[in-house]
Amino acid sequence: MAMRDAQARVTRLRDYRAPDFLIDRTELYFDLRPGGDLRPGGDLRPGRTEVRTTLSLRANPARAEPGSELRLHGEGLELLELTLDGRALGSGDYRLEDGELVIPAVPERFELYSRVAIHPEENTALEGLYRSRTLYCTQCEAEGFRKITYYLDRPDVLSEFTTTIEADAAECPVLLSNGNPVAEGSAGPGRHWVRWHDPFPKPAYLFALVAGDLACLEDSFTTCSGRRVALRIYVEPKDLDKCDHAMASLQNAMAWDERVYGREYDLDIFMIVAVDDFNMGAMENKGLNIFNTSCVLARPETTTDAGFQRVEAVVAHEYFHNWSGNRVTCRDWFQLSLKEGFTVFRDSQFSADMGSPTIKRVEDVNLLRTAQFAEDSGPTAHPVQPDAYEEIANFYTLTIYEKGAEVVRMIHTLLGPEAFRRGSDLYFERHDGQAVTIEDFIAAMADASGRDFAQFQRWYRQAGTPRVRVDGSYDAAAQRYRLKFEQNCPPTPERADKQPLLIPIRLGLVGTGGDLSLHVPGLADGATELVFELSAASQTLEFERVTEPPIPSLLRGFSAPVKLEFDYRREDLLQLLRRDSDGFNRWEAGNRLAVGVLRELIDARLAGQRLRFDPALTGAYGELLEDQQLDTAMVAQLLSLPSESYLSELAEVIEVEAIHEARQFARRQLAETLRPQWLAAYERHRVAEPYRADAAQIAHRSLRNLALAYLLQLPDDDLIELAWRQFESADNMTDVNAALAALLNNPAPPAQERAREGLQRYYERWRDEPLVVNQWFQLQAWCPLPGGLERVRTLMEHPAFELRNPNKVRALIGVFSAGNPVNFHRADGAGYDFLVAQVLALDGLNPQVAARLLVPLTRWRKYPEPRAGQMRDALQTVTAAPGLSRDSHEIAAKALR
Ligand code: BES
Ligand code: ZN
Repeated sequence: MAMRDAQARVTRLRDYRAPDFLIDRTELYFDLRPGGDLRPGGDLRPGRTEVRTTLSLRANPARAEPGSELRLHGEGLELLELTLDGRALGSGDYRLEDGELVIPAVPERFELYSRVAIHPEENTALEGLYRSRTLYCTQCEAEGFRKITYYLDRPDVLSEFTTTIEADAAECPVLLSNGNPVAEGSAGPGRHWVRWHDPFPKPAYLFALVAGDLACLEDSFTTCSGRRVALRIYVEPKDLDKCDHAMASLQNAMAWDERVYGREYDLDIFMIVAVDDFNMGAMENKGLNIFNTSCVLARPETTTDAGFQRVEAVVAHEYFHNWSGNRVTCRDWFQLSLKEGFTVFRDSQFSADMGSPTIKRVEDVNLLRTAQFAEDSGPTAHPVQPDAYEEIANFYTLTIYEKGAEVVRMIHTLLGPEAFRRGSDLYFERHDGQAVTIEDFIAAMADASGRDFAQFQRWYRQAGTPRVRVDGSYDAAAQRYRLKFEQNCPPTPERADKQPLLIPIRLGLVGTGGDLSLHVPGLADGATELVFELSAASQTLEFERVTEPPIPSLLRGFSAPVKLEFDYRREDLLQLLRRDSDGFNRWEAGNRLAVGVLRELIDARLAGQRLRFDPALTGAYGELLEDQQLDTAMVAQLLSLPSESYLSELAEVIEVEAIHEARQFARRQLAETLRPQWLAAYERHRVAEPYRADAAQIAHRSLRNLALAYLLQLPDDDLIELAWRQFESADNMTDVNAALAALLNNPAPPAQERAREGLQRYYERWRDEPLVVNQWFQLQAWCPLPGGLERVRTLMEHPAFELRNPNKVRALIGVFSAGNPVNFHRADGAGYDFLVAQVLALDGLNPQVAARLLVPLTRWRKYPEPRAGQMRDALQTVTAAPGLSRDSHEIAAKALR
């Protein structure tokens, strides 16, 4: 292990150097030759694809030291031919070092031609060129292009690409690459070729190629300057009826980016291709986005509301990258959040505008506070702009994405929408066609607004979640209210001493009649809200003319990614829940209330005491359920108890069973006490119209299915039949899944019998729809009833399970280990052994997906013995495995250090 550690190659931000060479033009010729049959169900015999590459290279005038050695990246390539300015290079003219082709002496400007062979059919890592079922596709971010040809595979080398694809005309009628199609022809008997040209210089990670027998949904978009853009979504013919939602989402996203950011699309054609085997959700290749089928295909009968929303968000996200990522790209991978954090912020603004802004905010904050906060306090914590990495694929993290988006959101809060827009306009204009840094983004925001971001920038360089402690004191005689703020940030692996951050805290004061007017020097009269900028370790804020003791509503809209502590009394939280003018903070008050109650239950359970439920919570929940003025979606969010993972994140020590049982106890109490109200809500929120994935219908279904989930806590045959009727009669997957999950999670024998039958019918009906089969796996992997590990083991043997398909792996192994705590963390440690066995089996096939599966084990220090020791042992087994990938090694070794 120590040796392995010593060998691990670390890439550091401070070692960045401009490239020695630039590539003005890149010409690619792909000669695709499958070994087997490409039709559905066809075999995967290894084939051989030739890639012929012509690069126009020249020395970079901005390079650090002059030299004439050329080093190109290349991995797993079989070099067949190499010429420089037309002269064949012999073995003495170059050398192949690990992962590099080195040519010791090259001129200032030259043309390099290479011919290599690769084997997409055998590529199970799904990086580079690979075959997914009936088609060929590529995935090049972050460093996959080097598996296709020898190249300067780094994001600061931008080149103009021309790509020709030759293939069998019958098997691969559709041949796609970036940019515009410019020529096509035949290439001998049964063969054809198509040539694409992308006029926008781009880094290699944005290159894409697709070939296969694909059907296409076509539509168009007319841009704000009147250009007509052809829009095409390519899928396997059987999926053509599942593309309408993605198309509508794309058109909405294009219009939104023009309206909100002034960004117009730039090519004549924009394509999306759906593939079944994909490591991530989707990829923003210029003009040719490649998507996991799970993020494009949607149809009411097969897709849940959450699925529809995911498609809308991912389509928008990848489209938005055309500007934030493609036209302006990253200098190096330490700047990843420059494109990802900003684009997540943009897609969340878009989703908020398309649906319910408060609900979207609650969902985003839930993800941030459970998963990102956990990452930020664990052994893999890193800044939004990291200092070092071993394997870049491991750095597509919640911190880069979600915290990165929060940091951009804070800039938006500090500047306001107009100045922020001036900043983004300046950024896009100033850096169009360049590869830049996070500092360049901040500089544009600073220049456009006149604001100094010196202190704010620490958000990018400092890991860890800051704690903000707030205390309030009211002086009735002086009519003065004072808030004292203190910030501190716990140490993280990369640095222990933390400097104070600039934390924007949006706040107001709530009195008996609602929001109070705020009287603070410098604030406009009549204002009820302000953004307090906490910049020192400790600071106070004073309000004058406060005529009653107020309740502070702090961090409205979750204006900063911090842990805010304030000793609210339960009555205060109930007031905020009823009266706060900020929707997010109303939810947050309910959430704090529930966390408080659940923590008491957890402590009681650990002390071996009888559990007692605070009637204040039942009362509040009953009121919410009966209040018909309230927004339905909001009520559903308010009535969902904090998740076990959120409670685990909040806990110093994670007591898996106590958390689960306390939460179950609370659910059963609420189900019992409010049974008539739940039933009434279930009836009231029935949707009579045909399915639409709009905010109003989604709200009704979410509250109705929440009611069903509560009701099925009770061992009551009538309720079991209620769920069964819903399962049988529902016309949409949201209601089908909710009913089946409710039955599955109810241990009463009649419920289990229905669940068994339901699962069987579900599978029979949907066995030919892989995305539905994934949901079928997920529902079972989630089920917290005893015996979860055995059920998952059995499902691994199911004919529909494939270790090579990342969606299947995530649906079964991923959901089990991250979403079923009581079964995964069972006392004998068998859950950990199971996960290690799967990670090791997968590591040789697909290291990126294998490494991600390890994440739940990396939190071992937060579990009490014997679990901590068992998890640590499991990680040690991983690091000791011979031939382990860099991906898995980095995660496991960091977790152990
Ligand atoms: N650029 C990424 C996809 C990617 C990530 C490719 C890592 C290769 C390695 C893409 O823009 C992205 O961020 N996709 C997300 C979904 C998005 C909505 C946050 C994903 O794939 O999960
Ligand atoms: Zn992205």
